[in-house]
Amino acid sequence: MQNFTFKSPTEIIFGRDAELQVAEKIRQYGGHRVFIVYGGGSVVKSGLLARVERCLTSSGLAFEVLGGVQPNPRLSFAREGVREALSCKADFILAIGGGSVIDTVKAIAHGVANPGTDIWDFWTGKTPLTKTMPFGSVLTIAAAGSETSDSAVLTNEELGKKAGLNSELNRPAIAFMNPELTFTLPKKQIACGICDIMMHTMERYFTPIKGNSFTDLVAEALIRNVIDNARIAIVNRKDYDAMSEIMWCGSISHNGVTELGRKKDFSVHKLGHELGGRFDVTHGASLTALWGSWARYVYEDDPERFARYAERIWGIDSGTAEERARAGIRKTEDFFREMDMPTNFTELGIGVQTEAVLEYLADMCTANGSNKIGCFHPIDKKAAIEIYRMANK
Ligand code: NZQ
Ligand code: ZN
Repeated sequence: MQNFTFKSPTEIIFGRDAELQVAEKIRQYGGHRVFIVYGGGSVVKSGLLARVERCLTSSGLAFEVLGGVQPNPRLSFAREGVREALSCKADFILAIGGGSVIDTVKAIAHGVANPGTDIWDFWTGKTPLTKTMPFGSVLTIAAAGSETSDSAVLTNEELGKKAGLNSELNRPAIAFMNPELTFTLPKKQIACGICDIMMHTMERYFTPIKGNSFTDLVAEALIRNVIDNARIAIVNRKDYDAMSEIMWCGSISHNGVTELGRKKDFSVHKLGHELGGRFDVTHGASLTALWGSWARYVYEDDPERFARYAERIWGIDSGTAEERARAGIRKTEDFFREMDMPTNFTELGIGVQTEAVLEYLADMCTANGSNKIGCFHPIDKKAAIEIYRMANK
């Protein structure tokens, strides 16, 4: 096990009616003027936004509202949010929505706390992020894990570049997690969220650090639990217990617990972000479209690791390590298909791409070939092209 430090400071209010505590809790974090951010309108339609507004009003908290965050959230919208939050002198930023809204709120909080800096400079590393302000979320979808994670992902639409920023300052102060708020989700978003949660755990499980650790056991239990409850929630999206399990696993899968003592890989996320930046595809779908190709490209580096995954997750206990490894990859793709998720570019809806596009994507995620991504099998430009090629059908 490698040395680690771990801090997951987000206060979690979990369960039915969690969002009704929004005013009381925001006050505890020093909020008096709340800047609320939401997405394309699902929270207006469901009545959630009005409910939160009523809570704030009856507690005497002032607020302003900005709606319109799109999935694969845009930098320009976050910049607008910074301007508006500054002009209303907000002292707490509240996301009502999913990962796209929460990541936008993280960007707004960083921008408000650093008014002289363009927020994209934090994402490129040009300016180190050293301070932020209090922010939190009312979560409406179990997926990205942004409600507790140290990361935030934005799309710079001028560059066609989707990029993540990792910083402890991305950890929200508070998360209101009421599984009932997910009951209005379309089936596709439930499935994309489920697969994203699995991938956050798998991208940490496939690591070059050897050893049979507690972290592995947590990861295996989490993946199995998500699979079991996915099969219930995908049929009955209003199953409270199944959605509770998925929602809680969503946070644990990305708050860092499943990477303690080892290195995380995350190459499929980086390869997938380039599909999001170029084609605006749904995040979870970009991952399932690539995972099998990545796995087939890298599993020979450590077939035993893939064989253990196959055995612990899918119950495959016969055959050589190589055979079990390959069977585990097939089973994973079968599960993605069961969830109606894509396993290649055509199923993803972007069609077969030219070699020039594959090279462009590989250039984007390896900084024109100067970087390698991931650590299980460090992916250089040539490897990235090959993985995209394998998925390009
Ligand atoms: O915008 P509205 O109208 O709210 O509709 C949203 C959106 O269309 C809809 N939705 C959300 N909750 C709903 C609902 N519709 C009906 N009822 C509800 N209760 O779902 C759609 C997708 O929303 P989005 O916020 O994009 O989903 P998700 O949570 O999957 O977030 C995806 C974004 O997070 C990033 C992804 O790259 C992507 O940009 N990620 C962020 C991470 C982080 N910060 O730690 C980690 C992840 O790996 C991921 O990269
Ligand atoms: Zn993800």
